[in-house]
Amino acid sequence: MKMFLTSLLVVAAPLLASAKPQTNYWVTVGNDTIESIKKSSKVGLSLHSSKNGVSLINVKAEEIADLSTLMHEEFNRCAGFMGHDSLEEAKAALELTADKQAAVDGVFNNYQIDQQARVIPMMSQVQEMGVRKVIESLSAFNNRYYKSQTGVDSQKWLKNYWSTLAASRSDMRVDFFTHPNWPQPSVVLTVQGSKYPQEVVVIGGHADSINGGYFNDKVSARAPGADDNASGIATITEIIRVMVVTNYQPERTIQFMGYAAEEVGLWGSQAIASSYKQKSVQVVGVLQFDMTNHKGTANKDIVMMSDYTNAAQNAFIGNLIDTYVKLPWGYSSCGYGCSDHASWTKNGYPASIPFESTMQDINHKIHTTEDTIGVSGGHAQHAYKFALLGVAYMVELAK
Ligand code: BES
Ligand code: ZN
Repeated sequence: MKMFLTSLLVVAAPLLASAKPQTNYWVTVGNDTIESIKKSSKVGLSLHSSKNGVSLINVKAEEIADLSTLMHEEFNRCAGFMGHDSLEEAKAALELTADKQAAVDGVFNNYQIDQQARVIPMMSQVQEMGVRKVIESLSAFNNRYYKSQTGVDSQKWLKNYWSTLAASRSDMRVDFFTHPNWPQPSVVLTVQGSKYPQEVVVIGGHADSINGGYFNDKVSARAPGADDNASGIATITEIIRVMVVTNYQPERTIQFMGYAAEEVGLWGSQAIASSYKQKSVQVVGVLQFDMTNHKGTANKDIVMMSDYTNAAQNAFIGNLIDTYVKLPWGYSSCGYGCSDHASWTKNGYPASIPFESTMQDINHKIHTTEDTIGVSGGHAQHAYKFALLGVAYMVELAK
């Protein structure tokens, strides 16, 4: 089996493998791509057979590069099809279900958007008030610093709040992920997938806050952290609430995470992401919400950080915004691993961070005593948009 990652590789591989170049390839592709291949003027379709959502086609060597371009442009699939050295190997690949195939690839490659019938009614249940209340509750703790008692208490509050939301559901549980080297735990709400429970969608944000002043005692200093990052935790909490009121049951497992100790170096998320990697947990996508309630950029509502993130998933999220949220969005970059998405990226998982503004227009009150909801107008209208996006992401990825 060979992966057609780049056209260069495709051209080089047969030349290296043997003296006489291969003229045809057996290739397996998702059935959803067949119509587009048929329509393409550049790639001829010679269909051999189909099974389990996958089709076996024969492609001329000179058409492989065009097939790669088509997959990339229309389906956001970088390695969205597989070449096989023989018809036997290709037939064996067909015996796998499409999902196992994705697992073999190590690539989650279904970024199709087709859950309108579920997503739109769920979006109508998202409430600004739900988001606002959680921002207010979290920013009422003196601080949520990773070493302070109030930083432990705020995580107990969050675990309890999520547990109350989950109380009616036997497929949901809430746990602490404890960290041996500091007192503040991370909080994880797990929704067991009905069909692919071993595949996990992660929606997370950091729950800690910090007063960044040099000379104060951080354990006792006031750090409301309303925007950074009660807003992200409140956004996630609203997604959970909507999931329960609409009785949505995902096919993949979903984990909502409130990370500890982000403000001191992404420690909580790093501990979780590296343990998942070590245990080979199959995380198909990670969405990070860190700062969602301060609208700093006039002509953009949602800004995706292009660095330390996965480009294919970012493009998918852009498509979700166009399809469902229907608001202007764009790209910016942090220039460094600025939040927990970087922990997941570092451990090999596709992660994205839809952010409240461009880097130029950031909320300058973060890490101070003045990071309150008042700075953002006393409401959660901006974070509300991110909850809409989160609902769409969850349903389209967990199917
Ligand atoms: N929410 C911020 C990250 C951020 C700030 C992103 C401004 C974009 C614009 C996060 O909580 C944070 O403060 N991160 C630290 C880095 C971390 C590795 C300690 C930072 O930016 O200094
Ligand atoms: Zn911060």
